[in-house]
Amino acid sequence: MAFVVRQSKFRHVFGQAMKNDQCYDDIRVSRFVAIVVEASGGGAFLVLPLNKTGRIDASHPTVCGHKSPVLDIDWCPHNDHIIASASDDCTVKVWEIPENGVQAPLTEPLVSLDYHSKKVGIVAWHPTASNILLSAGCDNLIVIWNLDEGEPQIILDMHPDLIYNVSWNRNGSLICTACKDKAVRVIDPRKKEIIAEKEKAHEGSRPMRAIFLEDTRILTTGFDRMSERHLALWDTDNMEEPMTLLELNVASGVLMPFYDYDSKVIYLCGKGDTTISYYEFTNEEPYIHYLSVFSSGSTQRGMGYMPKRGLNVSKCEIAR
Ligand SMILES: *[C@@H]1O[C@H](CO)[C@@H](O)[C@H](O)[C@H]1NC(C)=O
Ligand SMILES: *[C@@H]1O[C@H](CO)[C@@H](O)[C@H](O)[C@H]1NC(C)=O
Ligand SMILES: *[C@@H]1O[C@H](CO)[C@@H](O)[C@H](O)[C@H]1NC(C)=O
Ligand SMILES: *[C@@H]1O[C@H](CO)[C@@H](O)[C@H](O)[C@H]1NC(C)=O
Repeated sequence: MAFVVRQSKFRHVFGQAMKNDQCYDDIRVSRFVAIVVEASGGGAFLVLPLNKTGRIDASHPTVCGHKSPVLDIDWCPHNDHIIASASDDCTVKVWEIPENGVQAPLTEPLVSLDYHSKKVGIVAWHPTASNILLSAGCDNLIVIWNLDEGEPQIILDMHPDLIYNVSWNRNGSLICTACKDKAVRVIDPRKKEIIAEKEKAHEGSRPMRAIFLEDTRILTTGFDRMSERHLALWDTDNMEEPMTLLELNVASGVLMPFYDYDSKVIYLCGKGDTTISYYEFTNEEPYIHYLSVFSSGSTQRGMGYMPKRGLNVSKCEIAR
């Protein structure tokens, strides 16, 4: 084995936990991403100004128009005041956050989208076209909404089982999905066609995640039969075998991948883990290069990825 040090701009990337006074403290986080909160008799999420860190009063007003728990939220990539939510109450709602934040309970959405017949666990804005929103529900349907009309524009009925994860590619021409039937699918939503598919992308029966990296590259996380966590890279032009398969460790938390198109760094976080590991993606074998691991010392309960606009460039922060 030759010990050649691979050139990388990101060799020295390191993790750093925020000081206590820069954390969001005492939030009764329930299940999903930042910052869905526990609410009695309904579903709610907190929206806090970025600089409002520290202890959050339990009575802080929330966005609370859903009839049952909020399962996913996503900020609009085109407007920092617009956020979409998906709920156990079978609806998707779009909210406008007032200029100076949520100062009183926000119960009236801009629009409430009804089509799903079961709870809706996934909501994702189109990355480039404004007013286009995707949702996926436990009815195994993916619905792409045109908010100008408030109607489903495209309905994709091609999953035989629960959809675990949906990811747009960078320009929004394709989506990829991870499904409970263990298949990963690449779908052209305009043609309503599956253009690539891998059955049993991971052998284990625990949930998978699938996200787009570059044009024809998909990253998946999943489990093998022995519950070992795996990370795989796929070429959508030939999904027969993975381009790379990394065997990580045995743990129960589903690994959630986050990819930064600018730096080509992949972050892997697992619920129940105390670490975040990161890898660099390149076009040279083995394509996915381990960079480092950040250990926080406390158990992770949920993850969200801050848009670049929220980072502090004067301290060379590349992700939060
Ligand atoms: C946060 O920033 C806003 C606008 O810059 C400012 O008015 C407000 O006082 C700040 N709040 C805190 C808690 O620092
Ligand atoms: C979007 O990306 C796909 C795959 O990367 C590419 O084939 C396609 O030409 C792009 N579409 C547009 C409109 O740029
Ligand atoms: C898919 O999974 C990734 C990583 O867990 C997450 O960032 C993304 O929000 C998920 N997408 C949807 C639509 O659930
Ligand atoms: C950004 O980082 C610099 C250097 O560490 C610090 O002085 C500044 O207060 C930070 N800005 C914000 C908005 O946190």
